[in-house]
Amino acid sequence: MPDLRERAARGLEAARARTLHLTDLDDVELTTQHNELMSPLVWDLAHVGQQEDLWLLRGGDPAAQGLLTARIEKLYDAFEHPRASRVRLPLLSAVEARTYLSDVRGRVLDGLERLDEELLFPFGMVEQHEQQHTETMLATHQLRDGANLLGPGGPLPAGRAVPRDGVLVPAGPFTLGVDAHAEPFSLDNERPAHTVEVAAFRIARTPVTNAEWQGFIDAGGYDQPHWWSPRGWRHRLSAGWERPLFWSADGRRRRFGLVEEVPPDEPVQHVCFFEAEAYAAWAGARLPTEQEWEKACAWDPVAQRRRRWPWGDTGWTPALANLGGAALRPAPVGAYPAGASAYGVEQTMGEVWEWTSSGLEVWPGFSPMLYADYTEPFVGGDYRVLRGGSWAVGGAAIRPSFRNWDHPVRRQIFSGLRLAWDAEVRTVGLDV
Ligand SMILES: [Fe+2]
Repeated sequence: MPDLRERAARGLEAARARTLHLTDLDDVELTTQHNELMSPLVWDLAHVGQQEDLWLLRGGDPAAQGLLTARIEKLYDAFEHPRASRVRLPLLSAVEARTYLSDVRGRVLDGLERLDEELLFPFGMVEQHEQQHTETMLATHQLRDGANLLGPGGPLPAGRAVPRDGVLVPAGPFTLGVDAHAEPFSLDNERPAHTVEVAAFRIARTPVTNAEWQGFIDAGGYDQPHWWSPRGWRHRLSAGWERPLFWSADGRRRRFGLVEEVPPDEPVQHVCFFEAEAYAAWAGARLPTEQEWEKACAWDPVAQRRRRWPWGDTGWTPALANLGGAALRPAPVGAYPAGASAYGVEQTMGEVWEWTSSGLEVWPGFSPMLYADYTEPFVGGDYRVLRGGSWAVGGAAIRPSFRNWDHPVRRQIFSGLRLAWDAEVRTVGLDV
């Protein structure tokens, strides 16, 4: 079996194993809407099959006959039914959804055997779609009330002390984005590769930690409007936020139904863009642009070329980054020295999605992919780009060029931040 075909088949299999694990629950859990921001899990379950049916069995033609009737299939159209309304739809039962998934997958794998390698992109696209939904399912698990269903999470390496200054990324051009020949499963908004000039800047070696965030709280950061943008402050007041989502005033947090002390050396997560922006201002820093972030992550200034991964061109292993979702939490800072980029920036892959200051735009020469509504409807909207991939992301569904985006108020996602500075500003480590 050629490499790319095997990668596609294995990727689909890995995504499905995660889907089935996260939906191995009773019918009450699966059909309850745990939060208005999320779908009931039984919707996600059938939706990943519906998308696989649409893109891999029908070439993306919604008018072609799928394995569901057109009436039922419409229930799984994400654009037609917003998340808050899905619980009221006459959805497939969990048993019906699993049978549907299995039927679609069987036909897909039969078709995969007969395809040429150049036709495999939709398989990579569907694999990544399902992996993205497993992260959404984890967010639903995190939002639900009730006892822990997933266990405490798998083991992680210990952290180590990492200087809190920033590394210098000198001014100069680099290659932003990727092409299909280099990354066959890259999505439309990552393409094409093109040269951009980036002014010199500094960027933090690791994401901001819980202890550092606690310093912001203790210093009154949530009460001082001058750290916040006007819009961010208005939102802070109306939402009444005083700390990250899932933290309580007694220094503890709720994580998948477990209540535990907030670990000081873990990257902070569940903060929104407005909070991240305010924290950065308080710390005498700013958020990186996504061009800066990608350069610090992927550019090799000695070889003058991109690396496929921060650490080099070989693929992800659990020794290099906290990906794949099994840990159920970020790893402490300093846990992955071998995963550092050429500039010495660590933990860009895994841990938390990192807010950038950039809105969602497309690169020059952008061309929509088969799933044409993946990116284009969101361009120029009220979104901020997040980079990096959280601990919840599948290892095959992330790359240094991968771009995520969300509304600036969202924090049910596994989102944190990394600080950046203009190069001429002398950086000062935070004494917290
Ligand atoms: Fe989807």
